[in-house]
Amino acid sequence: MHSIYQYQEFISEYLQSQYEIKEPKNLYEPIHYILDLGGKRIRPVLTLMTAEIFDTDYKKALPAALAVEVFHNFSLVHDDIMDDAPLRRGKATVHEKWNINTGILSGDAMLILAYQYFEKYQPKIFRKLAKLFSKTALQVCEGQQWDVDFETRIDVTIPDYLKMIEYKTAVLVAAAMKMGAIIAKTSKENANLIYDFGLNLGLAFQLQDDYLDAFGDPETFGKQVGGDIIENKKTYLYLKALAFSEKKEAQQLTSLFAKQLRHNSDKISSVKEIFNNSGASKATQDAIQEFTFKAFEIIEKMNIDDDKKSILRTFGENLMGRKV
Ligand code: IPE
Ligand code: IPE
Ligand code: MG
Ligand code: MG
Ligand code: MG
Repeated sequence: MHSIYQYQEFISEYLQSQYEIKEPKNLYEPIHYILDLGGKRIRPVLTLMTAEIFDTDYKKALPAALAVEVFHNFSLVHDDIMDDAPLRRGKATVHEKWNINTGILSGDAMLILAYQYFEKYQPKIFRKLAKLFSKTALQVCEGQQWDVDFETRIDVTIPDYLKMIEYKTAVLVAAAMKMGAIIAKTSKENANLIYDFGLNLGLAFQLQDDYLDAFGDPETFGKQVGGDIIENKKTYLYLKALAFSEKKEAQQLTSLFAKQLRHNSDKISSVKEIFNNSGASKATQDAIQEFTFKAFEIIEKMNIDDDKKSILRTFGENLMGRKV
């Protein structure tokens, strides 16, 4: 096994080895720009780590890991257009640095590039990976559409929200891990269990993302703090705040989310105060723990050595403590 840092290095090296100078520049430069901004690279790290957990050299999993990361970055480029986000990983988003059309087309090209990495596998593995990938990618689109639909809906429930984040975020984390399992040719049981582990970790991950979007440190977060509030996102924080608030505060929250206010900083601080005072912030932290612990329970059912189990557990614990 290797450390998280080592896996990140392997991914960076492999990514750089894949670059070639290609025209037109306005198609490829934004792709390299977003990929070189890096980010945490947790999904490809999980692909490599899972391959090794099931006793296979991480090198075999590099193309699939990069496919997942390129797909993830594609989804971010389009997500930033949809969310009208100015900042990504501490730098201008692709559509801000170039323009919306460039973001759309470079994103499209990244989706194709992601698929191409699977061509490096033999037919039997290729088929399994491509099938999982197609299913997952479509679910991400469905989740993203719900996310946008919810901005203007007032009847969103917690189960609606959980389904939405399962689709837009958790399935890709789950699939990233299952790909490592497929490449390692482990048992069906192990592959399905690692998928479920990733799914619960992914749910906790998106809850944390929502929490940090409101309460992250603007100096280090790398994204616009309060972006979800500006966009009227129906997050767990919002839904719980609405459920926990007295009538007056609930009405205030609803009206703050009913229109696009010009004075966004007032809106952001008022909403954050309601999130804290209502107990929604605490409830979100509790839910992050709950899904992480659910993931840990799944580890226990897996047919792997104890030291491998503790590697998975440590990863989940570190993810819970993340600030970016
Ligand atoms: C951001 O993902 C989008 C979500 C699904 C929450 P990450 O938090 O993994 O972003 P990077 O890749 O590390 O920048
Ligand atoms: C994005 O969710 C999920 C996908 C990109 C599929 P968010 O919109 O919350 O992600 P961030 O916060 O912009 O990274
Ligand atoms: Mg976004
Ligand atoms: Mg979004
Ligand atoms: Mg977010």
